[in-house]
Formats: sequence, C-alpha cells, structure tokens
Amino acid sequence: MNDKNKVLIFDTTLRDGEQAPGASMNTKEKMEVAQTLERLGVDVIEAGFPISSPDDFNSVKNVAKSIKNSIICGLARCIKKDIDAAGDSLKIAKHGRIHVFLATSKIHRQFKLKMDKEQILRLGVESVEYARKKMEDVEFSPEDAARTEKDFLYRIIEAVIKAGATTVNIPDTVGYTTPWEFGQLITDIKNNVPNIEKAVISVHCHNDLGLAVANSLAAIRSGARQAECTINGIGERAGNASMEEIVMALKTRFDIYGCHTGIKTQEICRVSRLVSKLTGFVVAPNKAIVGANAFRHESGIHQDGVLKEPTTYEIIRPEDVGFTGIGLVLGKHSGRHAFKARIKSLGIELKESDVDKAFERFKVVADKKKQVFDEDLIAIVEDEMKSVSPTWELAEMTTASGTNMPPKATIVMKSKGKKFEKTSSGDGPVDACYKAIDAIVKVKGELLDYSIQSVTRGKDALGEVTVKVRFADQNVIGRGASEDILVASAKAYINAINKTLS
Ligand code: KIV
Ligand code: ZN
Repeated sequence: MNDKNKVLIFDTTLRDGEQAPGASMNTKEKMEVAQTLERLGVDVIEAGFPISSPDDFNSVKNVAKSIKNSIICGLARCIKKDIDAAGDSLKIAKHGRIHVFLATSKIHRQFKLKMDKEQILRLGVESVEYARKKMEDVEFSPEDAARTEKDFLYRIIEAVIKAGATTVNIPDTVGYTTPWEFGQLITDIKNNVPNIEKAVISVHCHNDLGLAVANSLAAIRSGARQAECTINGIGERAGNASMEEIVMALKTRFDIYGCHTGIKTQEICRVSRLVSKLTGFVVAPNKAIVGANAFRHESGIHQDGVLKEPTTYEIIRPEDVGFTGIGLVLGKHSGRHAFKARIKSLGIELKESDVDKAFERFKVVADKKKQVFDEDLIAIVEDEMKSVSPTWELAEMTTASGTNMPPKATIVMKSKGKKFEKTSSGDGPVDACYKAIDAIVKVKGELLDYSIQSVTRGKDALGEVTVKVRFADQNVIGRGASEDILVASAKAYINAINKTLS
C-alpha cells in the first residue's frame, strides 16, 4: 500500500482526553493506557502537558521511558518554561515530540492573549525554533485554527514550517466547523502555503456539534495525514474525535477515503474498555464501534438476515474490533483447562496464581448463573485482578431494606489478617453499606458519582458498579462486579478506598 496514504493516528486520550472533567488518571493508570495504545499500533501518544503539574511531568517521563514503538509527545504553550518541561520529560524517549500551541483566531487574540497578529507570528516562530533546539520532531498547533482568518493561518503555518515544525496541526478547538468547510480549509492550506509539503498536516477536532469524526474524515479526504483523537471520544466538553470511529470509517470505506492506518483493530474493544474502566466514563450502549449494542440485532428480520448472511446488517465484522459478543462459553461444569483457554483466547494474560484466583471466582459465579458469557469472564478477571493490592477486603455483608423498614447494612472487612465489623443504617442500602465501610476504614469518602451496568442480559446478569469518590482533594474511580448489586456496590467503594490508600 502507498505510504502517502497512511494516516498517522495521534492519540491524545492521556492529554486532551484526561482534560475531560472527572477523567483524571494516576501515573500508573496512564502507563497502563500507554502500553495498551502501543499494542494497538498508535503512531503518536500525547502523554500529557508536562508543565501543568509534577504528576503530569512524571507521567510523560515514565511513558517516554517505557514505550519504544510509538512517538511520545508532550504539550507546551509558547512559553520557554513549558517547552523546557516538555523537553526534559521527553529526554529519555526513543522517539519524542514537542507539541507547541498558540491561539491564532481573532477572538483568542483579542480576549485571551491580547496580542496582535505580528506578535503571535513572532512568538510562534521563536517557540518552534526553541523547541527544535531540543528535539527534531516538533508539532505546531494554531489553536482555534478553524475560526482563524485564512490569510493569517497560511502565513503562520508557512512561518512555523520554515522555523522547523515537522507537523502542523489544524485544530477545530471549539467544534465549530462543518465537514465541507473543514475539508476545503485543508485543500486551501495545501494550495496557499508554499512549503506545506515539508510538514505533515494534522487535524484535531472537538465534538461540540457532534461532527468531530465527520470533520476529521473530510480533512483526511482533502489530504490531512495525521488525525488527533481519543479512545471513546473522551475529552474537553463534548469530547474529541473518537479514534475507533475514525479508524473503522477509513477501513470500512477505503473505497471513499483511499487511506489506511497502522491500527490493530482487533484490540479496539479492549482499549475502549480499559479507558472506560480507568476514567469511570461509561460507554453508551449505542456508541458506534464499541457500544454494547453495536453488533446486537434485536428485530427478528435483522436476526434472520444476519443468520443467513452477516453482511446483510453488519458492515463491520465484530471480531475485527475485538467485540466478543455474547456467545455462551462456559458453565458450572467447565474445568480449569477450558476456563484458562477461554481467558487466553480473549487476549488476557494471567500468571498461574491469578488463574487459580480467577477460576475460584468463576466457579462461584457459574454456580449461581448457569451461563457464563465472555463479558462475564472479562468482568470476573478485572474484578479479581485490581491494579492495586488491597489494603481492605470485603469478607461478608448482610443488608436489609424494604418499603416499610429503614435500610441497614452489616459489613465485615479484612485487613492484615484481622476482621472488623460494623452495622449502619442509611438513606438506602448502598448508603448504609458505605456508612458501615467508612466506620470501619476511618477514611471518609464523598460519593460523587455512582453507576451500575449489567454485564450481560438476563435477570441473573453480573452487575458492574463504577463509583467516583472524593477523598480530601483527590477524586478516585472504583469498580466492582458481582451477581449481587449491593456486593458490587460495596466492592467498588472498597476499590476506591484501596486506590486512595495506595
Ligand atoms: O483543542 C485544541 O486546540 C487543543 C490544542 C492544544 C491542540 O487541544
Ligand atoms: Zn483539543
């Protein structure tokens, strides 16, 4: 395939995605996401904004240290200390990139920067030159490019390329543009910037009008060869263009776009699930590509069609994005060998001791639930293999609630070999559980968000609870899964406690 038609995938889940209110991840979680993105075949990972906090600096540094197959990028304003921080955090990277940005639109010039065009042009050029002294690979973004006067945009793009920018990114910062307008903008840039061939044209679209993916695709059709995007489309406000949608649109409609990416699409669902788990942002069931219903056919006519020939109603093969479906796989008579083989085929690597732990849990679930689906297995394994070692574990719990009685919960927890028990009442059974847990652990958390999803269908489905809890000045996501939703609720809260203690 002609490499001129390769679209580089620049993932900004760890930077723009993490800027979404409440989506923050800790350094360890960011590393897990970065490793998964590398496995997915992402060309560039924007790992953070190093000047913004010591945590961000260290995350970028850690990612730069361990990821070898993707370019690692750090964001910087056109300020020397920002560029220094980005350069320092990326020193160790095998392939590093400094991404400098500066707003260029009239609104931003007047109200935010209070600078005129010439000052902005000069600052952009000086910053790119400064960044180039530290790194060969420098990207420049004229922030709010989609609302910038075209003549000024051409001038600044030409100037920064001359100063050494190897990628010029055209952001639609506020999600204002339309596909035909944005496609035309890329064509105009190609026709009016004399040295444009010396740089890769990138696009970065926000989703305020629900057009981020459509705008990115229109730009690619006009010649953009890097798309900036996030997993599940998370990001500031309404989010960024969703990576899985861009990648699968290019693959599915190669006849229209004539472009390819290096993404191993079979990994898509796994990354989506990881990002959802770590950020606590639940993926809507009808979300394109990765939603739970994306490949489910409800109507009889559709089911009949798919059974006769899948392409009647499926434009993407579920296995091409790693969608596991709801095929019945295991039951209570399945042995350890079958369990291990199925886990492996789902792409989950476990140590032998972890297989034992997960198998024990599987047996408990299979006893209560006759049919254990792939989604159940993933939830069981994720629930058992939490990323933090548990300071506190749930040993037993009993709850009582009803229409004519105050909800009450008795919780028994284990820590360092000792058991602790408390009984509390509350506004509801979950509140009663959390109050009892608070009384045992003596760490008070404020519950900011609580959501529950059934892992599969049916009355016996596993429930997966995600909570966001505030401890002092830290927001933490916790997850728990169980066939009993109150147990799942308690486990999610305890997971958040363990994370904050670790
Ligand atoms: O949306 C935006 O303009 C950005 C820039 C920093 C590229 O995120
Ligand atoms: Zn952005």
